[in-house]
Amino acid sequence: MAEANHTSSDASEAPPPVLELRGVGKTFSGVHVLADVDFSVRSGEVMGLVGENGAGKSTLMRIVTGIYDADSGGTIRFDGDEVHFTSTRQSIDAGIAMIHQELNLLPGLTVGENLFLGREPLNRLGLIDWPTLMAESRKYLTAVRQTFDPSMLVGRLSVGQQQMVEIARALSLNARLIVMDEPTGALTEVETDILFEAIRHLRDQGKAIVYISHRLGEIFQICNSVTVLRDGRMVSTGPASELDEGTLIHHMVGRTITEKYPYVPSAAGPVSLRVSHLSATVIEDISFDGHTGEVIGFAGLMGAGGNQLGKTLYGAVLARSGSIEVKGRALSLRSPEVGVRAGIAYLPEDRKAEGLIQIHSVRVNMTLAALRRFSIALGLVSRGREEVVVLEYVDAFKIKTPSVEAAIGTLSGGNQQKVALAKALMTEPSILILDEPTRGVDVGARRDIYSLINELKAKGLTILLISSDMPELLGIADRILVLSRGRLTGAFGRGEATQEAIMKCAVA
Ligand SMILES: Nc1ncnc2c1ncn2[C@@H]1O[C@H](COP(=O)(O)OP(=O)(O)OP(=O)(O)O)[C@@H](O)[C@H]1O
Ligand SMILES: [Mg+2]
Repeated sequence: MAEANHTSSDASEAPPPVLELRGVGKTFSGVHVLADVDFSVRSGEVMGLVGENGAGKSTLMRIVTGIYDADSGGTIRFDGDEVHFTSTRQSIDAGIAMIHQELNLLPGLTVGENLFLGREPLNRLGLIDWPTLMAESRKYLTAVRQTFDPSMLVGRLSVGQQQMVEIARALSLNARLIVMDEPTGALTEVETDILFEAIRHLRDQGKAIVYISHRLGEIFQICNSVTVLRDGRMVSTGPASELDEGTLIHHMVGRTITEKYPYVPSAAGPVSLRVSHLSATVIEDISFDGHTGEVIGFAGLMGAGGNQLGKTLYGAVLARSGSIEVKGRALSLRSPEVGVRAGIAYLPEDRKAEGLIQIHSVRVNMTLAALRRFSIALGLVSRGREEVVVLEYVDAFKIKTPSVEAAIGTLSGGNQQKVALAKALMTEPSILILDEPTRGVDVGARRDIYSLINELKAKGLTILLISSDMPELLGIADRILVLSRGRLTGAFGRGEATQEAIMKCAVA
């Protein structure tokens, strides 16, 4: 298939693009990550930026915002003038805001402090004007329909709420160009709608928006144009109306992907997990059985309790009452170690805060919870055996990294997610709790993860899939339980579940 540049002809009277890149390249220690990229976005345009994990999307936008320096040779124009930012501060001052793929808030500060960090309003005495700061904060939170108090500590918010704070912060910068790197990973449909409403508003005000997402449905819903990167090169750019999903995927991965959700029916076996009347901070009186060889999907709005349920089962959150039985044995003492020993593995929703240690290598991160597997004697670890297994996972998951010794922080977001998943599987669990497993993962790799879930299911694992991605739940789960305000409000067998029926229970 021809890799057409479906660029429409230049309208000569049109104002210059807000952002225009020509021939931008980037090399990290000898590796070409971006090469000769042209990219532009106009006022009133929502430009989708898509491509596989590691294609270079975040890097390109980090160059625009002054975090990285591009290789020499290319040019960046903002509002018609050639620019070269050497810090985020400079790009913010020029009128560019970016919502980063990984959450960037300080958990020990309040929401208001986070929103206005480094640009706090001052009173006549030159001190921070708290009443104004809090009032302004409330204004921007209201703009994204959040009702929590700006004096709350960010660390007490759910990941989704924190994401809304990031969005509010971007709005408060009043920028002309807003870059959103995977903003909806932690958001459910309702919050995504709120975000889209905000984006349409910004678009109508003549702002330029770059929207990065692996959820292609969102791209078609909100973007008027789409640019595709593959292996650091721009392979296509043009109006979204000239694309369909199949063509877009083909541009992204260079092949056709059939069957987005490769569901394999299963014969569920005996009960492996029995949860009775479980209550914890958010969840209330949850009871259900998990069988070997089945995937149970958990649906619900942000803060409905899916995340808390996962953490409570794993032992990271203390249960208030109720019981958890694994293969007939009650788990009494609750701590993650007990969970691991009982054969429970957990893939956390927030891989940066809870899962991975950014400065450590791919190898160390992957084997952290499973070192026992590689010990020879006296606590000694067989490095050779460890490396063999790590390489197997790197291969199987197609993790894009120069070596297993590379620091996790240098991998693209989606590739970090694959390492987090490998880490959970390393402990060879019988019960696997996946909290947003495909967050930030590209279409191809997503399909690989679904196939893997099917394989694990066939091996007899019990898989709890907590996801805000409704098509994913409908596509992969054997049955779906719905949570609302911490309680179970619905249960659907595969086939009876529809998006509408689930939503009805989710808002109950
Ligand atoms: N600081 C760094 N040092 C070394 N390599 C890096 C660094 N930052 C990014 N890379 C590499 O650049 C490539 C592109 O990464 P980037 O994060 O831009 O991908 P992406 O398109 O945003 O992917 P994803 O969809 O997974 O977020 C990756 O192979 C990544 O490992
Ligand atoms: Mg990225």
